[in-house]
Amino acid sequence: MSAHIIDGKKLAESVRAEWKMRVEKLIQLGTKPGLAVIIVGDNAASSLYVRNKVKACSEVGIYSEVHSFQQNATQAEVLDCIRALNQNPHIHGILVQLPLPAHFENNRVITSIAIEKDVDGFHLYNVGALVTGNTIFFACTPFGVMVMLEKNQIPIEGQHAVVIGRSNIVGKPMAFMLLDKGATVTICTSKTRNLAQFTRDADILVVATGKPRMVTADMVKPGAVVIDVGINRLPDGKLCGDVDFDAVKEIAGFITPVPGGVGPMTITMLLCNTILAAERAQAGIQIG
Ligand code: GUN
Repeated sequence: MSAHIIDGKKLAESVRAEWKMRVEKLIQLGTKPGLAVIIVGDNAASSLYVRNKVKACSEVGIYSEVHSFQQNATQAEVLDCIRALNQNPHIHGILVQLPLPAHFENNRVITSIAIEKDVDGFHLYNVGALVTGNTIFFACTPFGVMVMLEKNQIPIEGQHAVVIGRSNIVGKPMAFMLLDKGATVTICTSKTRNLAQFTRDADILVVATGKPRMVTADMVKPGAVVIDVGINRLPDGKLCGDVDFDAVKEIAGFITPVPGGVGPMTITMLLCNTILAAERAQAGIQIG
């Protein structure tokens, strides 16, 4: 039997429509949520992500501004910009698009963002908060995956979740979010010996390796939930995920497509975190 295909685009549209009301309520109370995005250099993929983030903000009524720096900008210039944004009452969320050029120290930059404005959830304090079950902001991509599981009423407690990928943006926070919901979690990488031995035991399999179609049908347990976070461009220009979608959909119980799966949910969760930051500011809630 063919898997149920989780439509991330449709889900993103429906949750954004719900959140528009939260934005309207905030505006009535005198607070328009505001997001500042910092981008350094001219990485084409990053520029596209930033344009999509700005567009999504305007669609739900969130104010956004982009601070673009040249590739050869200094870290001090970017830190000055973040310091000013930390003090700006119209800005509730600050996001530094990654990757930064090699001469930047990622942690120096990210930890200069005020904890209560760190809508990516990448600040070391926020990572510690997640690990200890006191989350302030969930990192956007794994947060989107959790919403996809929840909206499809997929049980997590007691399930074996296998995450392939150990990045700070997806793999690690994903594992802790699943653990927090009671899953038994195994973290693998694309280099794990006998990877299929782990994946074949997964009730929930999350793949975030950046290796096109590396998860094949023989690696998946019949009926498993397969979440593909990968987005890879093939030599013919087409996009594909880290999962061999056509073959795995015949085995899995649920599967996310690429494009149109996890991708649209990532930006949606950024909007959610920005609204949450504005709601906390409006209510005078102290964070950290
Ligand atoms: N680069 C790739 N994904 C992300 C993300 O979720 N946030 C930021 N800031 N940069 C990214």
